[in-house]
Order: sequence, then C-alpha cells, then structure tokens
Amino acid sequence: MEKKSVILGVTGGIAAYKAAELVRLLVKAGVETKVAMTQNATKFISPLTFEALSGNKVVSDMWDAGNAAMDHVHWGQEADLVIVAPATADFIAKMAHGLGDDFLSTMVLAASARILLCPAMNSRMLLNPMTQANLGTLRKHGYIVMEPGDGGLACGTDGPGRLPEPEDIMEEVRKLLSPQDLAGLRFLVTAGPTIEPLDPVRYMTNRSSGRMGYAIARGARMRGGDVILVSGPTQLVPPRGVVFESVNTAEEMRRVVLDRCGSVDVIIKAAAVLDYRPKEKAPQKMKRKGDRQTLELIENPDILAELGRDRVSGRRILVGFAAETEDLLANAKGKLQRKNLDMIVANDVSRHDAGFEVDTNSVKILYRDGRMEELGLMPKESVAAGLLDRIKEMWEKGT
Ligand code: PMT
Repeated sequence: MEKKSVILGVTGGIAAYKAAELVRLLVKAGVETKVAMTQNATKFISPLTFEALSGNKVVSDMWDAGNAAMDHVHWGQEADLVIVAPATADFIAKMAHGLGDDFLSTMVLAASARILLCPAMNSRMLLNPMTQANLGTLRKHGYIVMEPGDGGLACGTDGPGRLPEPEDIMEEVRKLLSPQDLAGLRFLVTAGPTIEPLDPVRYMTNRSSGRMGYAIARGARMRGGDVILVSGPTQLVPPRGVVFESVNTAEEMRRVVLDRCGSVDVIIKAAAVLDYRPKEKAPQKMKRKGDRQTLELIENPDILAELGRDRVSGRRILVGFAAETEDLLANAKGKLQRKNLDMIVANDVSRHDAGFEVDTNSVKILYRDGRMEELGLMPKESVAAGLLDRIKEMWEKGT
C-alpha cells in the first residue's frame, strides 16, 4: 500500500481512542496518513496523539491560521481514500443532509476519493430509524459503510454499535486500495496441513502453517476475486470475505474440494496433504507394547491428480505447489506433468527462510509449456501477488 494516501476523520465518540491504533496500522503499512478531527473528538483524544503517530499536522479547527486556504477542498481530492472512524450519529446525519460546518464535514463533502464510514455509537442510536435512514441515504450516494460490531458498549449495555476492530478496518482499507483486477474470477484455495488420527489422542501431520495458502486466498479476495478457502488445522484467522471450509483429513479435504470445485475458475492447491494415513485408527489410546511398534500406512487420495484427471473445461486453471528437499525442478516438473496442471509452484523446503512455517518464500513457477520463472526471496504476500498476476494473465490470454 505504499504510495497510497488516506485521510482519517475522527468524530466525537468514546471509540475515538481506537482511531489511534488505526493510524499506527496505516503508517506501518506505508500509507501516507493525515487526520482531521471534529472539535468534539478532541475532547476524547488529543490531536497530539495523531500528530505523533502520523507524522503530519492534525486539523481540527477550520480557522486555524496554519491551514492552507483550500485544505478542506484539496485533502479529499488528493487522497486515495477518506475514512471516518468513529462516525457518530450526528456526523452521519450531517453528511446525509449535505451539511458542512467544520473542516471534516466540508472536506468529506468536497472529496472525490471514496469514503469509508465506520459508525460507532450506542445501539439505540444506531437502530434509531433516523440513523438507519441516514445510513441508507449515504449508501445510496456511494458511501461505503462498515457494519458496526456487536458486543459490550461504553454505556454499559450490549448490542450493535461497536467500532470494528482497527485490524478489521485495515483489512477493508487494503481491499479498497487494491486494484479490483480479479473481480469476477472464482478461486478455490487449499491451505495448511492435513492430519490423520492414530488413536483418540495422537495424529500424524506435517509442518505447514497455512501462511502461504492464506496469503493467496487473502490476496485474491483483496483484488475482488470470490474465494473459497479449504484449510486444514492452523492457528490463522481466515481472511475476511472468503468462504471458509475447515477440514482435518485428506479424505475430508478431497470431499470438500470435489464438492466445491464445480463453481470455480481457478484452483490453487497450496495445502500440504498427507500422502498416507494409518490403516486403522485405534479406538482407544494405544498402549506401550515392548520396544518396537509397527504402523501400517495406506495411501491417501491424491486430490490434485484427481482434479487434473477429471478436468472438465479448458477454461479452468489448475495450480499445484511442490514442496521438495532435493531435485526441486525435476520433481516439480514430474508433478506438473503427472497431475496435468497448468502451473506448479516449486519451493525448496530445505531452506530455513522458505517453505514451511516462515513468513517468506522463494519459489520457481513452472508452466505446462516448459517455461520457468523464478521469484526471489520475498514475503509470502508478495509471492501470492506474483502468482495471482500470472494466473490473471493466463486467464486473460485464455491459455
Ligand atoms: O503452510 P506454510 O507453512 O506457509 O508452507 C507452505 C507450503 C510449503 C506448505 C506450500 O508452499 C507448499 O509447498 N504446499 C504443497 C506441499 C505439498 O504437499 O507438496 P507435494 O509435493 O507433496 O504435493 C504436490 C501437490 O499435490 C500440492 O499442490 C498438494 O496440495 C497436492 N496433493 C498432494 C498430496 C495429496 N494426497 N493430494 C494433493 O492434492
């Protein structure tokens, strides 16, 4: 999100303190951030906090001699996005009626950037038909309104009206600042490990954390794609806006993937699926039996090979991953051909900075026509973006 700029409007509600965290997240993501506050907001949190976090002067007074004459017009025209968080009932009512009586309201009225409103208030104020009608009017005029969260409120009651968590607002911001170049494409992404139980307390698995697959699912969603994420057990929170399917075993993953794959254009199998499972699952916890114990394993279905074998239409793009510790290219090429894929992403999982568990990856992408491209060491989000760029290109070429 570097080179993007955002104006954050803060209005006078108790949730104004959460806006400080939002500014921190924006700045951390490389977004140039300026803050405008209403006078009431300055009673809840000091402009100094936002100045320190954003590195920019905060405007809270239309008549401050330090403002340039037309700041209230220029700010919202030069920014990529205007966010108002928290947006009070009063501010929402003002905007719905086109009133501009301070810096923030005039700036929003003059903005050409898209406007994201994050309402936060007492439940009764939020559910009041006037507020709802005002929000309806603003939506009709193109304002993007984030649903407030449900839970404990500052007034001591429970209900809708909480400002969404700054991370959730950030996720919406990332989406709004991303090109929507994958809109209309439907993805199925698998991620994480599978597990195979041995008995009620033990199981076999592998080191996949799910980070690579989740980064792809999130990247595709950010860029407007419809995403189904089928995931083995991980510690990760599913990205907002994806359809999430949680599975454990290879057989469960196969069932969900085959169920869901009919409606998608692109399948990306980043999951690390166990090739074998115990022939039998012991009904009770297995007991120690002498100094050796033999475990009989039987083959799991190869989900990707099955998808490659039963390809229904030339329009679908099928992408595999190959996790290798030796002969990376030869092994990946073999899988690309055997599983009848359009591309395979080969990662050398013997490296400490690539493959399983870490935040970075270094991959080689092999294509059906024999081409190969290398992406250097980079964050998994960037690998995901690079992969999605190539999938988009392939889709547009119809190859
Ligand atoms: O989750 P992270 O910690 O971020 O790590 C990322 C990763 C290393 C798991 C990921 O980048 C990766 O390489 N995933 C594939 C791992 C793997 O299982 O590779 P494989 O070479 O065994 O399988 C090849 C392909 O066939 C994979 O797309 C796999 O999903 C698929 N497969 C394999 C076995 C099986 N029974 N069914 C399958 O569909």
